[in-house]
Amino acid sequence: MVIENDRLLRALRLEPNDRPPVWLMRQAGRYLPEYLKVRAQAGSFMDLCRNAELASEVAMQPLRRYPLDASILFSDILTIPDAMGLGLQFMSGEGPVFERPIQNLKDIQSLPLPDVEEQLGYVMNVVRAMRIRIGQKLPIIGFSGSPWTLACYMLEGRGTRDFAKARSWLWREPQGLQLLLDKLCSSVTDYLAAQANAGADVLMLFDTWGGLLSEAHYREFSLQPMMKIMQALQTRHGCSLPVILFSKGCHTQIADMCESGCAGIGVDWRIDINNALQQAKGKLAVQGNLDPTVLLADPESIRSTVKKQFADAVDHAGFIFNLGHGIMPEVPPDNVTVLLEQLRQLSD
Ligand code: CP3
Repeated sequence: MVIENDRLLRALRLEPNDRPPVWLMRQAGRYLPEYLKVRAQAGSFMDLCRNAELASEVAMQPLRRYPLDASILFSDILTIPDAMGLGLQFMSGEGPVFERPIQNLKDIQSLPLPDVEEQLGYVMNVVRAMRIRIGQKLPIIGFSGSPWTLACYMLEGRGTRDFAKARSWLWREPQGLQLLLDKLCSSVTDYLAAQANAGADVLMLFDTWGGLLSEAHYREFSLQPMMKIMQALQTRHGCSLPVILFSKGCHTQIADMCESGCAGIGVDWRIDINNALQQAKGKLAVQGNLDPTVLLADPESIRSTVKKQFADAVDHAGFIFNLGHGIMPEVPPDNVTVLLEQLRQLSD
């Protein structure tokens, strides 16, 4: 099926565009009052994720407000560990917590691989419901957490500042950690293939905690598993959708990512967009990378930041305008309008 607005797909094939595609990480969510209303109606965040009608509605909300070039599945990266039996809870003000985190090697050995269609079918239902609402107008981005980032939460039990407990496995029990990553590779591959079958057009791997690793550990424990997933998607599932790899804080390793088989990389604000585009030139699309805190500033600062970014990047095929990380809950929705209006003015 042909997608009418194919700017994102063209950028991922490094084809020229009339203007760069734009979407924003966490474009649906708590900064939007209409989201908070639907979440209250659903009961909790996970109830919302399990309700295809309401989750697909929430995914549409930013598209009604803003001229965006892509939609993203409304779900969370921690659905797989939840399906593996860890008991995901979202405590208000605390973020995600697992009731039964992984404590030792035995826990990893006995960790079951979920049946993706049976236990995570609710996610595929959201993709299908989004497709009905969106029709062929816009691409849908499906996603998963990377094995390393999922392992961080599973070993730590919750989000922490430095994931020290999870990282200690790199030294104490690297083989146990590899076993966990292998199991996650298998589940993430099946999960992404199921999202593709349900109608996703692009797949994204969120490797939020790749930047906690040394360069060598990043290659071995984060990039390698993601490469295995991208290969298995093709060989095991015949899935050739473009994959965007977002390893936050890993801009020193763009050269490694260029060899990984992904179609595009997400970069955060720590690297100049010029520098990232230069390194990826002719090989990969680059997505990013405004510091999301600019959306907490005054309209003039937002406009001048967008202008600079645009001037630096517009000539590159394969540039995808985005933030360097997700929109924060405190962001006034009107500031997102300012950002996108400025971008539109520059593109016209
Ligand atoms: O538009 C979108 O991008 C929405 C889909 C989406 C969510 N989570 C919804 C969500 C996506 C792509 C994610 C990914 C995700 N989830 C990541 C990777 C990207 C990143 O931000 O680094 C991570 C690390 C998580 C884990 C997670 N989920 C945390 C740490 C939290 C709590 C704190 C926070 O950042 O929101 C969540 C909850 C969550 N995921 C919410 C939403 C809308 C908020 C839930 C609520 O209270 O309503």
